[in-house]
Amino acid sequence: MIIVLLGPPGAGKGTQASKISETLSIPHIATGDIFREAVKKGTELGRKAKEYMERGELVPDEIVNGIVKERISEPDCSNGFILDGYPRTLNQAKALDEMLAEMNRKIDIVLNISVSEDNVVKRLSNRRVCKRCGAIYHLITNPPKREGMCDKCGGELYQREDDREEVIRNRLSVYRKQTEPIIKYYEEKALLIDIDGNREIEEVWDQIKRAIEGRR
Ligand code: AP5
Ligand code: MG
Ligand code: ZN
Repeated sequence: MIIVLLGPPGAGKGTQASKISETLSIPHIATGDIFREAVKKGTELGRKAKEYMERGELVPDEIVNGIVKERISEPDCSNGFILDGYPRTLNQAKALDEMLAEMNRKIDIVLNISVSEDNVVKRLSNRRVCKRCGAIYHLITNPPKREGMCDKCGGELYQREDDREEVIRNRLSVYRKQTEPIIKYYEEKALLIDIDGNREIEEVWDQIKRAIEGRR
């Protein structure tokens, strides 16, 4: 299955994508994670992406499209994959359709996770992420068993640089201007399913499981 997760910053895309990935045994491809990894390693890509990410702006389409094309051509994607944080512009959505057409494949379902602005700020300011495996925590709604340490791998937890309030506001405004229009694009293709992301993590997961079952 090829699944696209849409939603504003803090909607729970990463949280839900890792559940889908585990359940369906297909890779979770998060463009944000790919860029953060590149920044950490100090690669050329990381240097380019860093300036945009720090400000909460989007990395240019040509860069992102190239990376996704390469990634989804890898053998582990042959049974499907989950895209988290891509596409994020109309140009990216069209580029993705072209890539998939070349591979004789197509998107099965687009899950649009909505969440209120209040929740976004609450969630992102208390988010912690594992440095080693990327697992996502929240100090109040989804805390690690031991403070500062990942339950899954024992890695150290850190706060993302773009989870500062002023950057969060800009990410939201970029989302509204550049990403929201693609909701309509997928609606018109009859691929879109709305998910209420304001509920608890397990309740959101129940909605997603049902949506995926309905498409299989
Ligand atoms: P990216 O990493 O994709 O960030 P984002 O879209 O802003 O989304 P987040 O990762 O912040 O939120 P999420 O929806 O994954 O929520 P999470 O599950 O963590 O992108 C970062 C940057 O990279 C961009 O700004 C851009 O610069 C660049 N970039 C990436 N992709 C790009 C692209 N395609 N084009 C151009 N540039 C690109 O959950 C959030 C918190 O809430 C956690 O603490 C979690 O535990 C908690 N939580 C989750 N669900 C619930 C729930 N139901 N109830 C209570 N708490 C919950
Ligand atoms: Mg994420
Ligand atoms: Zn970990």
